[in-house]
Amino acid sequence: MKKTIYKPNSENIQKAVQILEKNGLIGFPTETVYGLGASAISDTAVTKIYSIKKRPFHNPLIIHVSSLEQAKNYGIFNNNSEKLAEKYWPGPLTLLLNMPIESKISAIAISNLQSVALRVPSHPVALDILKEYKKPIAAPSANLSGTVSATMASHVFNDFGDDIEMIIDGDQCTHGIESTIVDVRSDNVQILREGAITKDQIFKIIKSNLDIYAGSRILAPGQLEKHYSPKAKVRINAKKPNADEYFITLGREHEETHTNTINLSKAGDLHEFAYKLYACLRDLDSKNVKKVAISPIPDQGIGTAINDRIKRASKR
Ligand code: TXA
Ligand code: MG
Repeated sequence: MKKTIYKPNSENIQKAVQILEKNGLIGFPTETVYGLGASAISDTAVTKIYSIKKRPFHNPLIIHVSSLEQAKNYGIFNNNSEKLAEKYWPGPLTLLLNMPIESKISAIAISNLQSVALRVPSHPVALDILKEYKKPIAAPSANLSGTVSATMASHVFNDFGDDIEMIIDGDQCTHGIESTIVDVRSDNVQILREGAITKDQIFKIIKSNLDIYAGSRILAPGQLEKHYSPKAKVRINAKKPNADEYFITLGREHEETHTNTINLSKAGDLHEFAYKLYACLRDLDSKNVKKVAISPIPDQGIGTAINDRIKRASKR
């Protein structure tokens, strides 16, 4: 066991809270991907996140809180955002809201914007830390900027080593793909990043105008053409692998006689595929694999989010 990876017991949760109090950084599990957390109300603490992630300062951080009640201190809710929060929090949904005039959130954490992205994660360890700390935690995904997110404590350690004082191990993240980000500031609700909560699930609640953001202005740098990228070259929608490729597949339709085939869900289950995908890409990178092909992924349910991520991963 790496010396900065800790078991998720109450003693270690207290230790994590003390690190946050001292403006240090922690790696912690959420149900989507691991987060790299710091006090959201401290310029010093959030600056450390940008610096170790090598993240540009113009890319704001998601602010994590323990409840809708707490969220109301930091974001202005309207009818739609309130309904969505009531339905899907705690859970893999991030709401982009206007900020109240007075807010304790560090301006650096939100890149000097007037908006704030808030989320209540459902992972019990994340919730325990948030409840004990009682203040908001700024946390991007715990990976180096632009690379594949971390879905296991060991991934966080591989990216940051001892630069983070503590990584709490909460097992492999159940969704394995980042939260859905929804801009609910106006009645024209927009999905800025697809994720585990689908467009249909959001539509069911707001029952009105809902777009997937397709503008040219980047609102969330997670929308950058190239992002979520492993070192290996990725080819998507591959019906057949080339001889020199590792072949990541879903379901049983694909020829498995190819030596280097990795079937992430024989049952064709998109959730299982999402759960295993990032760990698989990281594993292939660690083996120095240069070329990866991914079989077609149905564009339904969480499949749309998977397609979004692998498309960006395939950009060079
Ligand atoms: O599942 C998740 O959302 C994970 C876990 C740790 O919560 N976090 C995560 O954070 O994926 P990150 O930083 O990797 O992605 C957050 C995205 C970025 O694309 C960022 O630009 C966008 O959210 N974002 C954050 N605050 C924003 C704001 N005020 N306006 C527009 N976009 C914002
Ligand atoms: Mg990220």
